Amino acid sequence: MIKHLLSIEDLNAEQIEDILNRADYYARALYDGRWDRDKLDQKIVLTLFFENSTRTVTSFDIAAKRLGADVVNWNADLSSLSKDESFSDTIDTLSAMKPDCIVIRHSDYGAPKFVADRVKCPVVNAGDSWREHPTQAFLDALTMIQEKGKLKGLNVAICGDVAHSRVANSNARLLTKMGANVRFVAPQMLMPQKLPAEGIECFDSIEEGIKDADVVMMLRIQKERMDRGTIPDEAAYFNNYGLTFERLKHAKPDAIVMHPGPMNRGVEIADDVADDPKRSMMKRQVANGIPTRMAILDMVMSSKK
Ligand code: NCD
Repeated sequence: MIKHLLSIEDLNAEQIEDILNRADYYARALYDGRWDRDKLDQKIVLTLFFENSTRTVTSFDIAAKRLGADVVNWNADLSSLSKDESFSDTIDTLSAMKPDCIVIRHSDYGAPKFVADRVKCPVVNAGDSWREHPTQAFLDALTMIQEKGKLKGLNVAICGDVAHSRVANSNARLLTKMGANVRFVAPQMLMPQKLPAEGIECFDSIEEGIKDADVVMMLRIQKERMDRGTIPDEAAYFNNYGLTFERLKHAKPDAIVMHPGPMNRGVEIADDVADDPKRSMMKRQVANGIPTRMAILDMVMSSKK
């Protein structure tokens, strides 16, 4: 049992397996329409999103409500932060209202840990800076297990703006701990200087990087970086690194394509690949966010520590 979920780095293989089993349980239970809808009755989950989010905030909201919890979505733009209240005073104020769990997304490195050290309730990291996005890694792993039956020995190529991706970091950590072979595929300037885990192979050619891959995970190319000249232009990027069906032939014939979203169509991925009902897992990933977050909320709120 874990008290908080702050990073994949903190977890060992046994704890990861535990969470994945529980996520798998909730995925099946949702499918069958049979689960304990009052599991978190009378509990209050407070979501604190200091960055924009479409899927993650909604996914936590729905997951908590499916278990009977009440959710309070706190909004940074409408808060007293805009009246210059400090971050720690804001956290102390919200903590004094005694929520049963805090879910936080923040652009500062380590913000979820800072909050966890200050408050009494469990804290779940919904994405901090470029560092970690652990619940995304869990829902991605659940998707891979559903499709491929295992993680051990899978070849997973993570392609795109790896240097700035908390999704890449958390996935690489989780997958290497569970025995998958992880590759990073990116042009030199989008490759991280320090790798998040041991045993990751790096490629600057997408054809070589996805060779024999079971899973090809594409990442968003942030247009704001193009404005700064990091990437010459979208068309050139798509030419060299965009995932097309032609390129996908280098992966295994039954390779699946993943993307955490939001995606830039025609930049990192071609429309027909993104929309392919057999190969593209994007909608499944979003759907798997619910049982995964139900599992995590259930776990941290049932923990006695
Ligand atoms: C990502 C995020 O915000 O970290 N999206 C997500 O949570 N599914 C990826 C991104 O912003 O590119």
